[in-house]
Amino acid sequence: MIGIVGVNYNITERKRTEMELVSRNAELLELNARLSQAQAQLVQSEKLASIGQLAAGVAHEINNPIGFIFSNFTALDGYVEKLLAMLAAYKEAEHFIDSKATTDKLKVLSERVDLPFLKDDIPVLMAETKDGITRVRKIVQALTDFSRIGGKLEWQFADLHQGIDATLNIISSEIKYKADVIREYGQIPEVECLPSEINQVIMNLLVNAAHALGEERGRITIRTRAEHETVSIEISDTGCGIEKENLSRIFDPFYTTKPVGKGTGLGLSLSYGIVQKHDGTLEVESKVGKGTTFRLALPIKRRRLQLE
Ligand SMILES: Nc1ncnc2c1ncn2[C@@H]1O[C@H](COP(=O)(O)OP(=O)(O)O)[C@@H](O)[C@H]1O
Ligand SMILES: [Mg+2]
Repeated sequence: MIGIVGVNYNITERKRTEMELVSRNAELLELNARLSQAQAQLVQSEKLASIGQLAAGVAHEINNPIGFIFSNFTALDGYVEKLLAMLAAYKEAEHFIDSKATTDKLKVLSERVDLPFLKDDIPVLMAETKDGITRVRKIVQALTDFSRIGGKLEWQFADLHQGIDATLNIISSEIKYKADVIREYGQIPEVECLPSEINQVIMNLLVNAAHALGEERGRITIRTRAEHETVSIEISDTGCGIEKENLSRIFDPFYTTKPVGKGTGLGLSLSYGIVQKHDGTLEVESKVGKGTTFRLALPIKRRRLQLE
C-alpha cells in the first residue's frame, strides 16, 4: 500500500513539472512570434524607406537627360516641319527641271525611300514620341514630388494638394480601372509636416480604398478643408466597408483581410504611427456594403515649435 502511495505522489509531481514546461514553452513560443513580428515590421518600414530613397535617386538622375531630350525634341520637331515644307517647295520646282536624267533620278530615289509614306508617318511618329516623353517627364516629376528630394526627411510647410496629386499620379494604374476619383479640394494653407511621410499615409489610404472596391466600378472621393488650427483630408470609398467588430483591429500591425501577397497588414499601422508623430488624428467610419471614410487631421503648425 505505501509503495503505491509513493508512486502516486511521483506522478503528480512529474505531471506538474511537465505542465509547467508546456506552459513555459507556449509562453516562449508566443514571445518568439512577437519578436519576429516586430522584426518583420522593422524590416518592412526600413524597406519602404529605402524604396522611397531609391525612387527619389532614380528620378533625380533621369530628370536631367529627360530635360534635354524634351527640349531637343521640341526643336527637332520644328526643324522637321521646316524641312518638310522645304521638300514640298522643291517638289513643286521639279516641273521646271529640263534634264530628263535628273528627273528620272529623282523619281527613282523618291520611290526607293517611299517619300509619300515618310511624309505621312514622320508627323505621327513625332507626335507619339512627344507624348511619350511628356509622360515620362510627368512620372519623374511625380516621383520627385512624392519623395520631395529637396528636403527629404525635413519638416517643412507643404502644399498637401500637390502631395495628393503626385500620389494619385503614382498609383493611377492601381485606381483608374476600378474607380472614378473625385477631388473636392477646399481652401487650405500649407501644412508643416514631413511631406514624404504624409504622402505615404495618403497612398496607403488610397490603395486600401481601391482594394475595397469590388468588380463594379466605384468612387473614391478626396475632400480637404481647413478648420481652426487643423487641416483635414477625408478619403471616402464606395467599397465593401468594415465590420464593426473589426474596426478596432485595423490599425494593428499585421491585421489584414487580404490574401497573402496582396496585403501586409502594415499600411494602417505605419500610417497611424506617422500621424501620431505629426500630432494629428486618423479616424475611420464605415458601413458594411456602403463604404468607408478615413479622416486624417493635421495641425497646420507643428506643435513642438509653438512650445519653443
Ligand atoms: N477603405 C477600406 N475599406 C475596407 N476595409 C479596409 C479599408 N482600409 C483598410 N481596410 C481593412 O483594414 C485592413 C488593414 O489595412 P492595412 O493596414 O492597410 O493592411 P493591408 O492593406 O495590407 O491589408 C485591410 O486588410 C482591410 O481589411
Ligand atoms: Mg493597405
